[in-house]
Amino acid sequence: MSTPDLPMDYSDYLHLEEVLGAQHPLSGRHDEMLFIVQHQAMELWMKLALHELRAATADVAADRVQPAFKTLARVSRIMEQLVHAWDVLATLTPPEYTEFRPYLATGSGFQSWQYRCIEFALGNKAARALGVHEGRPHEEQVLAAYRSPSLYDEALRLLARRGLRVPQDRLERDWTSPYEPSEEVERAWLEVYRDPATHWDLYELGEELTDLESAFRLWRFRHVNTVERVIGFKPGTGGTSGVDYLRAMLDVVLFPELWRMRTSF
Ligand code: HEM
Repeated sequence: MSTPDLPMDYSDYLHLEEVLGAQHPLSGRHDEMLFIVQHQAMELWMKLALHELRAATADVAADRVQPAFKTLARVSRIMEQLVHAWDVLATLTPPEYTEFRPYLATGSGFQSWQYRCIEFALGNKAARALGVHEGRPHEEQVLAAYRSPSLYDEALRLLARRGLRVPQDRLERDWTSPYEPSEEVERAWLEVYRDPATHWDLYELGEELTDLESAFRLWRFRHVNTVERVIGFKPGTGGTSGVDYLRAMLDVVLFPELWRMRTSF
């Protein structure tokens, strides 16, 4: 905190007192610090990812496609950063984790409201994930992300504004319902990819979205791989089956037609 007699310095500007004062291991075990810092660092990157995703979605909705590309490229780089971050946590062994795991009690990444907002912003509207946020301080933000059109919904509306045939029920719908793939949407993306010269910016958008989903898939994979390495097949502290639940998440497809249309080439 800057005081009237001292000029602003590095720590003041970054609020490092608060950030570096927020690690409170409960177990007294050496390795708990790694666990806390890893989660906090990932939450910070998620904060930025969400900030950028909201901006990119608003840009796509307002036909500002070029600025959206720059922002989406940044989100993909953040995701890649998060993918590599697993290397540090993978140095945690089962006996090390077992020593402090009981202190988490029922705490779990499943309750990460920022992560849930990212999933919703990318279109994975899984209603079962809402319950844990009920009555919690960030419930409103989670619900707002759940009820808003996703980045992909906005991309499809952009395709329609550019004259491509996107079914009406993809342009206006209950945004809380999970996205269902559509053959007509697949044909619209195919038209873009078959004639990039005519649809250059939509073609680039398709590739930016594919980059983003690729990076996110890697994050999911590295998570489940690290979890299996650290806890084997024990249930999660958040009440799921653990590795089996996380493996099922690997099948989530965010932008289905962008993957499906590739078979046609
Ligand atoms: C040793 C380290 C870790 C273990 C053993 C672990 C374990 C698990 C398990 C078992 C789940 C399923 C939910 C449950 O029943 O708890 C889960 C979910 C989750 N974890 Fe981790 N995790 C670890 C590290 C992390 C880190 C560093 C993050 C980053 C913030 C994270 C974020 C998440 C998120 C966002 C979910 C929800 C995933 C979804 O619903 O698709 N986890 N974790």
